[in-house]
Amino acid sequence: MNLRRMDTGPGLRAQGDQLVALDDQLAVLTALRDEGKIGAVGLSNVTPEALRQALPVGLACVQNAYSLVAREDEEMLALCAAEDIAWVPYFPLGSAFPGLPKVTDEPAVRAAAEELGATPAQVGLAWLLRHDPHVLLIPGTANAAHLEANVAAGALALSEAARTALDAVPTRSGPVTGA
Ligand SMILES: NC(=O)c1ccc[n+]([C@@H]2O[C@H](COP(=O)([O-])OP(=O)(O)OC[C@H]3O[C@@H](n4cnc5c(N)ncnc54)[C@H](OP(=O)(O)O)[C@@H]3O)[C@@H](O)[C@H]2O)c1
Repeated sequence: MNLRRMDTGPGLRAQGDQLVALDDQLAVLTALRDEGKIGAVGLSNVTPEALRQALPVGLACVQNAYSLVAREDEEMLALCAAEDIAWVPYFPLGSAFPGLPKVTDEPAVRAAAEELGATPAQVGLAWLLRHDPHVLLIPGTANAAHLEANVAAGALALSEAARTALDAVPTRSGPVTGA
């Protein structure tokens, strides 16, 4: 079960009596896991501090906004990799929200797609999968052809040159709020 905190990432922030201490929430989730009512504990929209605080619980996954063009949480990904926790980026293509940077608009992504005979979305997803083996993808789509293409991206090999060019793409977004 994922605990969606409201500490960071796009969207609303907890305020007033919505503010609940992380340790109290983790205690409830740990008890539910011990009782066999949930299989594992994950966190979403967490800060690096909250992630470190929660590590003793034994997390299965962390779900924060992250993509080729939004890599503010790179250090958290590294921490998850070191702790063998799955990194499950949401908005892996930059989301459907207008105004947020899109992975598929990046010149380096489009060039790699041209080179590989793939679509820009496939390149963005393949980069995530190759970036770290702890990455687990949940791209959103309402289009069956896109779903098939996204599954096929798992088998897309990136050339050394493409990886170098993609690794050099800068983060385009600051911390996003209000999406
Ligand atoms: N934990 C959280 O707080 C949180 C917050 C937001 C989202 N999420 C979850 O994260 C997942 C992904 O987020 P998301 O769907 O908002 O963002 P996303 O995966 O970055 O982007 C979805 C957008 O990409 C397009 N797309 C997908 N595959 C494509 C393809 N092969 N070619 C071209 N366009 C493609 C979709 O359009 P089409 O429909 O036309 O394919 C849609 O506009 C979802 O499961 C969502 O529920 C979690």
